[in-house]
Amino acid sequence: MLSLASLLASRVEAAAGIDPEMRPATKPQFGHFQSNVALRLAKREGRPPREVAADLARRIDVADLCEPIEIAGPGFLNFRMHPEVLAAAANDLLADPHTGIDQAERSQRIVIDYSSPNVAKQMHVGHLRTTIIGDCFNRVLTASGHTVIPQNHVGDWGRQFGMLIEQIADENLDLDALDLSGAEALYKRANERLAADDAFADRARARVVALQSGDEATGAIWSRLIDVSKAGFNEAYERLGVLLADGDIAGESFYNAMLEGICTDLEARGIAVVDDEALVVFADGFEAPAILRNRHGGYGYDVTDVAALKYRAQTLRADRIVYVTDARQHHHFELVFAVARKAGYVGDETSTEHVGYGMVLGRDGRPFSTREGTAAYLIDLLDAAEEHVTRPIALAAIKYADLSNQLQKDYVFDVERMTATTGDTGPYLQYAHARAHRILTRAEAERLTWDEVTVLTEPAEQNLALLLSRFGEIVALVASDLQPHKLCTYLFELATAMSVFYEQCPVLKSEGEVCASRLALCATTRKVLATGLGLLGIEAPNQM
Ligand code: ARG
Repeated sequence: MLSLASLLASRVEAAAGIDPEMRPATKPQFGHFQSNVALRLAKREGRPPREVAADLARRIDVADLCEPIEIAGPGFLNFRMHPEVLAAAANDLLADPHTGIDQAERSQRIVIDYSSPNVAKQMHVGHLRTTIIGDCFNRVLTASGHTVIPQNHVGDWGRQFGMLIEQIADENLDLDALDLSGAEALYKRANERLAADDAFADRARARVVALQSGDEATGAIWSRLIDVSKAGFNEAYERLGVLLADGDIAGESFYNAMLEGICTDLEARGIAVVDDEALVVFADGFEAPAILRNRHGGYGYDVTDVAALKYRAQTLRADRIVYVTDARQHHHFELVFAVARKAGYVGDETSTEHVGYGMVLGRDGRPFSTREGTAAYLIDLLDAAEEHVTRPIALAAIKYADLSNQLQKDYVFDVERMTATTGDTGPYLQYAHARAHRILTRAEAERLTWDEVTVLTEPAEQNLALLLSRFGEIVALVASDLQPHKLCTYLFELATAMSVFYEQCPVLKSEGEVCASRLALCATTRKVLATGLGLLGIEAPNQM
């Protein structure tokens, strides 16, 4: 569905010859939309702006959409939509099973790499953000008609497994009784030992070699550690209500078998070179190279990501690959993108994006993760929020706080503020939705019926309908820009407009067609709020 704003814009552009840059009007007396196109044209042509505006107003063909165009101030064009046009846009939403989510012109295959926690470590606040943000991208892109392929790039390989397995053997640990927090405690004990005990360190190193060369007994213990960790991750996913499933896991170990081939290939083609005994790739614009194989013959984070890019572009046939991690990894991803392109593993037809996010801070403004040297676990944050409110509200509070600011910014985890039912919070939006539901339920109890929006005379009604008509365009914007805060801002404006509408326009106390039309407006708003919250991964309960 073409939004009213873009429909109007295309008509104005047809007459003006340049993008009219339509904006929502800043005040009701300026109508619904404004454009400064006449001012820009006048400057270019050296003519008086009001004259250009008058000329444009005569030529722009929008009589079916709006009232006669008004010229304001130095030459602004003001557009006031016909109420029937606004009503028709609202009714389209009410009838549409997708509730107005614009379907992409060309459906893409989109890989989203998110969550990606590390084995034998509990998920930590940073993983909370990637999981919530990635889940929102997944929902928005899927709803927009794309095929989303989530990839949970779990840290399930690497040198730490040597010490973990040795520690398990030394302690004669019963793996069947181990859970994720037990595994994490084990990790700490092993790590301490590694620093203090040289013989242990030697054994750990030998164990890594055994693991990498496919020793069966070693592999069996490793795979138990993975299972224990997966069970812990799944518990967290379930609690968060995110879409990730076991089938989405393609951890670091998954790419193991490809690494040697990549090194041979890139070295043979002269793309990789030996530098200080390591095999590396220098990419234009980067000072330090990506390391394919270190001087001890080991493979690490860089080469694994090069392999993952190759797999995602060539085997998964991704048109777009999105990575969601904390902002500090930005350089790493820019580097591996450049290397994979230089190698020809990722072509121009595939886009690669890193979406970095900021840190979660405590109320003292310091990163949660470094307080008193202890990591802040995701589970603890959920517990903290659930001490104040029920789970659906707690999740709404956390997810909204995570998504409603520009992602790159740090945000303060302030439970009181996040769970408030007033202000720009998730629970406020849930509350607005429940309020619309309550009005409709009451209307039903009074045997009132509604069908379509037909009367839009009050400014508050018009404003609400106008905002509703923008939903599709906002979702499309989030699908392209990956900036969920724009959807949050929109939903907050919608909830606010709805509450102004209630104040100024009695619903249940009005009569006849006005009442039916206002109920239809409530029903549409309720639907759009529920759909919008759903795209953020937030539930919309009927009662609060
Ligand atoms: N496991 C990493 C971490 O916890 C994140 C992995 C992100 N994805 C990737 N393809 N490198 O920081």
